[in-house]
Amino acid sequence: MKFEDVKIIGNIGAGTMGHATAMQFAIAGYPVHMIDQNDAALQHGLDLIKADLKTLHESNYLTDEEVKQVLERISTFTSYKEGLKDADFIIESIVENLKIKQTVWTEVEVYVSDETILATNTSGLSPTEIQSVLKNKDRFLVAHFWNPAHLMPLVEIVPGKETSDSTIKLTYQLMKKIGKHPAALKKESLGFVGNRIQLAVIREALHIVEEGIADPQTVDDIVKYSLGRRWSILGPIMSADLGGLDVFNNISSYLLKDLDNDTEANKTLSENAKNGNLGMKTGKGYYDWDKEKTNYIV
Ligand code: NAI
Repeated sequence: MKFEDVKIIGNIGAGTMGHATAMQFAIAGYPVHMIDQNDAALQHGLDLIKADLKTLHESNYLTDEEVKQVLERISTFTSYKEGLKDADFIIESIVENLKIKQTVWTEVEVYVSDETILATNTSGLSPTEIQSVLKNKDRFLVAHFWNPAHLMPLVEIVPGKETSDSTIKLTYQLMKKIGKHPAALKKESLGFVGNRIQLAVIREALHIVEEGIADPQTVDDIVKYSLGRRWSILGPIMSADLGGLDVFNNISSYLLKDLDNDTEANKTLSENAKNGNLGMKTGKGYYDWDKEKTNYIV
């Protein structure tokens, strides 16, 4: 498959991530075949897409006519056979479960051309393990969008052991074409790169709160008005170069031994999860959430 030959996108899953990847490809001009298990799930996905398009329209990002065209480009299916037989590139965003993903991909491979590129949006499962069930393993990889997929620029491209260079190259080109910033890893790693760094930072942030050093709002402010700004331009490694490696070497010599090195989730994190305090979606987490605040990211 050549990049220029990618004409139709197969999009499996219409949930939190799937509706947004479908919309992103459609905004970039691709016809998208969106698949889910039943009509109710597809309708839910379409409702999410319409709500997001309304926001993009109100933000002057899309005109009335463009919103109409995006919706026209998305067709819905409950059958892999019907929805995927003509697809050139497939992105899958279903439940994060290795066995279920393997079962779905085994079934999907029966209906698609040998050339079709297959991508999973797993948050951290091994592409080598998922691709192990495929007949043509070299055309499979991870394309890890970040949530909300239509607003966050990054897509981590992660090869499995059997992924070919041409599959990586095509996926990279396609992500650029739809307006994303692709970042290709040399090899797979648990949590890829983004989640490794994110979890290390969240672990230390919660540790600081649990130690009574600062409250959540203060910790978030400190990160937002320092690291957040600097890292959005430089990233952590270039920031070290900027500050001087002698300086960071000195700080490391006394500080690293004082940082949290727990191998289990933070105490307050597991307690909140157990008690149903799940953050924005239940109205209570480390913060109290009201409806207006949930629009903060747009
Ligand atoms: P979700 O639960 O919102 O959506 C999953 C969708 O897949 C549902 O609509 C469900 O009906 C559908 N589905 C389940 N089995 C199916 C099947 N066999 N065939 C077709 N459709 C099926 O889940 P979400 O959050 O969108 O996550 C999906 C994937 O994306 C997971 O692998 C997750 O780890 C990953 N991901 C999630 C992120 C997030 O912030 N939620 C961020 C990046 C990746």
